[in-house]
Amino acid sequence: MSKKILILPGDGIGPEITQAAVDVLQVLNNKFGLKVETETALVGGSAYDDCGQPLPETTLNLAKEADAVLLGAVGGPKWEPLDIAVRPEKALLGLREELSLFANLRPAILYNYLANASSLKYDRISGLDLLIIRELTGGIYFGKPRGVEMRNNERVGFNTYIYAESEIKRIAHVAFQSAQKRQKRLCSVDKANVLEVTELWRNIFNEISSQYPDVELTHMYVDNAAMQLVRAPKQFDVMVTGNMFGDILSDCAAMLTGSIGMLPSASLDANNKGMFEPIHGSAPDIAGNNQANPIATVLSLAMLLRYSLGEETLAVKIEEAIDAVLANGYRTADIALADEKSVGTTEMSQAIVSELLKV
Ligand code: IPM
Ligand code: MG
Repeated sequence: MSKKILILPGDGIGPEITQAAVDVLQVLNNKFGLKVETETALVGGSAYDDCGQPLPETTLNLAKEADAVLLGAVGGPKWEPLDIAVRPEKALLGLREELSLFANLRPAILYNYLANASSLKYDRISGLDLLIIRELTGGIYFGKPRGVEMRNNERVGFNTYIYAESEIKRIAHVAFQSAQKRQKRLCSVDKANVLEVTELWRNIFNEISSQYPDVELTHMYVDNAAMQLVRAPKQFDVMVTGNMFGDILSDCAAMLTGSIGMLPSASLDANNKGMFEPIHGSAPDIAGNNQANPIATVLSLAMLLRYSLGEETLAVKIEEAIDAVLANGYRTADIALADEKSVGTTEMSQAIVSELLKV
């Protein structure tokens, strides 16, 4: 039976970079016997322009029916003046919540060819292979009560940082199991010296660790974790943290690798159905110019094949093709050094496709 992937190109460079993934999928279907059908729908600002909603009902239903979702990027200055309830970013949060995508995996891997693009010295980052796991459907992003209201004649804004035991447990299991497949070192990041909610987080991680005796669990306060990430990032194997800390630390980790244009992500539910997207945004400044780096999106497709479709072999083929293309000197503008020639989005996609056709 063929599987269904919903493609949500979104805004800005979204349509260009998701096209690259669709081209790669076509090769996998034609040459490697993958049976995947795709459907495309509107999301974010482009959906708002079409029907006044960043996450239309039809898009949400297609996402629920699909085996996996591949998303480009959403947002742009055009939609910034909108009310927060209909801003493009709201579509992302809605998809995460409605599809119960509580586990967000953000790998930060350094491609040695690109080491010079990192802001850190070579010896600090060579061989970097770090996985950040971010809880994605709870914490302060979703906690209630929330809002802005008048109190004593002034405006007061408030959000709620809240985690239930069950939410902490399920992300803990994902984190321990991910560590088991890697170097078996898990660092849980919290602010247990100040916030009760993260003291509970820490206690639950300690309780669950007895079920994973082969994994070494450590704890770190989030301020120290931010410092350690730029001081000595190779000390980490898997980091796990709540929604907001994970948002911040994963951008920091991404930059260690030199280009945010290279990093994919997976957001998974309890059955490994997921939404896959590049970590970078919609880059409205270069949209439509054939300049965007499609690699993070194509790597997101590899994660989709690995986690949601169980196609590990094909995922590795894509990753190897990208490695070969970089080794052959192909660079988009974001990863090219001053003296290096760069290619456009379509040339980079074609190079990846040709590499796949060779094997
Ligand atoms: C991310 C983004 C989103 C988040 C925004 C766009 C809502 O920064 O995926 O990291 O904060 O989760
Ligand atoms: Mg973010």
